[in-house]
Amino acid sequence: MHQNKKHIPVLLSEVLLNLDPKLGDKYLDLTAGYGGHAKQVIEIIGKDSQVCLVDRDPSAVDYLKVSFKNQNVDIRNQDFYKSAVELSESGQKFDLILADLGVSSPHLNEQLRGFSIDKEGPLDMRMDQNQTLDAEKIVNGFSEKQLAKILQEYGEEPKYLRIARLIVRNRPITTTTELAKIVSKAWPGHSKSHPATRTFQAIRIAVNDELNLIEKAIPIWIDLLSPGGRLAIISFHSLEDRIVKQALAEKSGNKLDSELHLLTKKPIVATKDELVFNPRARSAKLRVAAKINKQKKGEYNANTGKKSLPHL
Ligand SMILES: C[S@@+](CC[C@H](N)C(=O)[O-])C[C@H]1O[C@@H](n2cnc3c(N)ncnc32)[C@H](O)[C@@H]1O
Repeated sequence: MHQNKKHIPVLLSEVLLNLDPKLGDKYLDLTAGYGGHAKQVIEIIGKDSQVCLVDRDPSAVDYLKVSFKNQNVDIRNQDFYKSAVELSESGQKFDLILADLGVSSPHLNEQLRGFSIDKEGPLDMRMDQNQTLDAEKIVNGFSEKQLAKILQEYGEEPKYLRIARLIVRNRPITTTTELAKIVSKAWPGHSKSHPATRTFQAIRIAVNDELNLIEKAIPIWIDLLSPGGRLAIISFHSLEDRIVKQALAEKSGNKLDSELHLLTKKPIVATKDELVFNPRARSAKLRVAAKINKQKKGEYNANTGKKSLPHL
């Protein structure tokens, strides 16, 4: 099941169990990456089902085009907000929607992408290499105040002021390892994780405008679900998970206008077994919700969820 060498999909069994794909379901994968989740879902829904795979990274899209060639799959090289808007405008609906947020293994493993703290590379960190804003522009071009704000908001970095000052004083900075070394000066001594982890996360989020896109996109994803359809979202850090949790909570619960029924009261995390072959799953959290079928709403209590969902 976990054969893709480029990227091992996280929480694969849990995604399948909770999305609960059925033959003929329409599937939208908003972060299709290297197609690990998509491949397994398509095996269940069947090759003739309607499938749309989205990724903002052109390298991932090239890979998807080869992997799914000769199949009836709509592959889009776009960010998931833009895709969702377009799909919604064209009146499409899906039974299964998956968003496996964040970066892929090739982003972290390929030196030239500039995401990795310990592999020397250019200050890049763009998921979409056609966009103009990259890490270099932020690190060498943003003001100390702007940098501090990014580090505080997107990295939750306690030493955001000191690190912003260190970066500005040591400009120009050209490589990932140089940046990591400069940031480490703010954290002398040993720590469990690399002292520049939060800084790298913050700059990456800023480069790719990650949190804003998720926040804007989730309401449209919910809109794109057909009645009874399911939305599964995997996040990798607390800032992402907070947005997902709040967005799903807002549309669910015992309210007259609730659109969703939460299927995961608490997020699902990886088993110890999975962590052995896929350590990247360490911080993954899966939340799943189903779109309430308004016509059949009376058949169960959306608040307790004790009766089985009207299917769906
Ligand atoms: C964790 S990987 C997904 C892996 C995929 N589920 C698989 O099994 O191969 C995340 C992917 O989402 C893409 N991505 C991240 N943010 C995105 C966005 N806003 N719009 C579209 N794609 C995005 C990244 O380029 C990356 O390929």
